[in-house]
Amino acid sequence: MSYPYQIKSLDEYHDAYKKSISDPAKFWAAIAENFLWKKKWNNVLSWNFTGENAPQIKWFEGAKLNITENCLDRHLKDSADVPALIWEPNDPKENSVTLTYKQLHEKVCAFANVLKNNGVKKGDRICIYMGMIPELAIAVLSCARIGAIHSVVFGGFSAQSIADRINDAACNLVITCDGAHRGAKAIPLKPIIDDALLQCTSVKKVIVYSRTHTPVAMMKDRDVWWEDEIKKVEAQGKTDCPAEEMDAEDPLFILYTSGSTGKPKGVVHTTAGYMIYTTYTFVNVFNYQPDEIYFCTADIGWVTGHSYIVYGPLAAGATSMMFEGIPTYPDAGRFWDITDKFKVNILYTAPTAIRALMAHGLDFVKDKKLDSLRVLGSVGEPINEEAWQWFYKNIGKEKCPIVDTWWQTETGGILISAIAGVTKLKPSYATLPLPGIQPAIMDEKGNEISGNDVSGNLCIKFPWPGMLRTTWGDHERCRKTYFDAYPGYYFTGDGCLRDENGYYRITGRVDDVLNVSGHRIGTAEVENAINKHTNVVESAVVGFPHDIKGQGIYAFVITEKQNGDAELTKKDILETVTRIIGPIAKPDKIQFVKGLPKTRSGKIMRRILRKIAEGETENLGDISTLLDPAVVEEIKREKV
Ligand code: PRX
Repeated sequence: MSYPYQIKSLDEYHDAYKKSISDPAKFWAAIAENFLWKKKWNNVLSWNFTGENAPQIKWFEGAKLNITENCLDRHLKDSADVPALIWEPNDPKENSVTLTYKQLHEKVCAFANVLKNNGVKKGDRICIYMGMIPELAIAVLSCARIGAIHSVVFGGFSAQSIADRINDAACNLVITCDGAHRGAKAIPLKPIIDDALLQCTSVKKVIVYSRTHTPVAMMKDRDVWWEDEIKKVEAQGKTDCPAEEMDAEDPLFILYTSGSTGKPKGVVHTTAGYMIYTTYTFVNVFNYQPDEIYFCTADIGWVTGHSYIVYGPLAAGATSMMFEGIPTYPDAGRFWDITDKFKVNILYTAPTAIRALMAHGLDFVKDKKLDSLRVLGSVGEPINEEAWQWFYKNIGKEKCPIVDTWWQTETGGILISAIAGVTKLKPSYATLPLPGIQPAIMDEKGNEISGNDVSGNLCIKFPWPGMLRTTWGDHERCRKTYFDAYPGYYFTGDGCLRDENGYYRITGRVDDVLNVSGHRIGTAEVENAINKHTNVVESAVVGFPHDIKGQGIYAFVITEKQNGDAELTKKDILETVTRIIGPIAKPDKIQFVKGLPKTRSGKIMRRILRKIAEGETENLGDISTLLDPAVVEEIKREKV
C-alpha cells in the first residue's frame, strides 16, 4: 500500500489543512479516491447542524461499498501474506497467533456465513461481548461483511448493562465466549450473557466461542458453539462470502457511551465517512510505514479498538497487534516484552497504563531493548507532564515522538493531535487540529472566542467524515446532547485552552462525565446504581484526582438507617454498582452524609462536593444560597 495523502512535513500539513478548510468536499473526495467503491458518490457532503431534525450529515451520498472489501479483499492482490493481525495471549507461555490478510479474509468469510446460517440479515443488530481474542475482530468484520450492525459491549459491563444495550438496539443475536483471561483471573462471560438474556426477548441466537474451557449452560434452540458452526459452513463448502453492498450512510456500528444523563447513548457511525476518516488519521497521525508493526493496547470494547485496532489499520493494510491481557501480568514489564518480542514500531496506549507502570519502577524496563520503537501514542484522557516525560525518556529513549491524540466515541477518529515526526511536540498538549477539523472555543455567553492564548468550551464548527450521525433510536437526543448548547456547532463536552501558538490543550470534561482509567462514566449513572440499594435515600457522585486512574469516583450517600455495620453497607453499595453497571464504575470512596448541599430549588450543588472531594476546605465559593449551609460543615468534617 502507498499513501499518497500521507503528510511528510509541516509545510505539507499547513497546505493540507488550508485546502481542507477552503474546499472540504474537494479535499475529502481526493482522499476517497484511494478506496475501493462498488459505486462512486453523487455528492461529497450535505449537512445541517441546526433545525428541528438536526443534525443531518451525509458524506459521499449515493456511493456503494463494503468496508471489509477495503479492509481485506483489496489487500489480497499484493499483500495476501502480510500479517493483518498479530495476537498475543494473556499467558506469555501460550503461542501468539498471526493472521495474514489472506487468512483473516478466509476467517471473516467463514464466520459471516455462520451468521447467515443463523438467520442474520443486513441491518440486524448484533451484540458482541467477548474478550480480546482474534475472534472478536473476526466477529466485528463478519457483521460488516454482511451489513449487520455490531454493538460491541466491553467485557467489564454487568448483565444489567448488557441487557439495557441489547434492548435499546433490539439485537437479535449475541456473540460471546465461555470466558475471558485477564491477568490471573478467568472472567465468566457466557454466564453474564445468560443473566442479561433473562431480560431480552429480541435475542434468538447466541454464538459461543470457547476460550477458557470453563463450564457454561448451553440452551437448546438458542445457543450454538462457534467452532461447530464453522465446521458446518466448511461442510457446506461455503468458503467465500460476497460482501454485501452498503450505502455510504448505512450504519456500520453502534457503540454505547456515557453522558450526563443516567442512560448511555448508542452512538451511531456509518460506513464510508468513518472508513475514510479512520484510515486517513491512522496513516497520518502515526506516520505508518508499510510493514511496520503497530500495537494499540486498547480493548475493542471501546472506540479506540474499533477505529485503531480494526478498521483504520486494516483499511491501510497495516499489521495491527491485539493483546488479550493486562499491562501488569505476569509482571509490569509485559508491554515492553511484547514490544521486543514482535519488534513493535508504533505503540499506542493510555495515560492510566503509563502511570500504573511508572508506579512499578524502572526495574521492569531496564533490561528491555525497546529499540524497534519509532512512534508512541496516548489516548483517552489528558496526559500529565510527569507521565509524558517518563514515557518519552524511558520507553521512547528520547527518540520517539509522542502523539497525544484527542478524540471521542462520537468523533469516530482522532481530531486534534500531533502528526508523528512532523508537528513540534509540547508535553500535555494535543497540539493542532488535523486537516478537516475546525475547532472553536466558546465563552460563557456562547460566543466563539477568536485569537490565541484563550480558554473555554471546545466545539467543532464543521462536519468531518468520521463524526456520529445520530444516537440509536432517538435522533432528538443526539441533537439535544451535542448540537443544542451552541447552535451551529458540535459541542464536545470538553474544556480546552489554545496557547499563544494555536496549540490545543484539553483540560477535561466540563459536564457530569468522569474519566476513570480512560473509561467514560456518567455521574448520574453511578448515582442511579447506588440509589438502587435498599438502604440508600439519595446520593451524589463526583470525581477527584487519582494518581493512577486520572480520576477516581467519590460518592456522598444518605442512608435510611445508620445503625448497622457501615463498612458492610459500603461493600453492599459497591456490589450494587457492580451488578447494575459493572466493576469499572465502583466508587473509590464512599462517605455517608446526613444531607447534601442543595439550592432552595432542590438542585445538588456539585461544585461544592467536587471541591470537598478534591481536598479543598476553604474556598468553597458562595454557600449562602444553600437550603441548609450547615450540611457543608458536616461533610467537610467527615471527609474520607
Ligand atoms: O474528555 C476527553 C477524553 O476522553 C473523552 C472521550 O472519551 P471516549 O468517548 O470514551 O473516547 C476515548 C477514546 C478516544 C473526551 O471527551 N480524552 C480522550 N482523549 C484525550 C482526552 N482528554 C485529553 N487528551 C486526550 N488525548
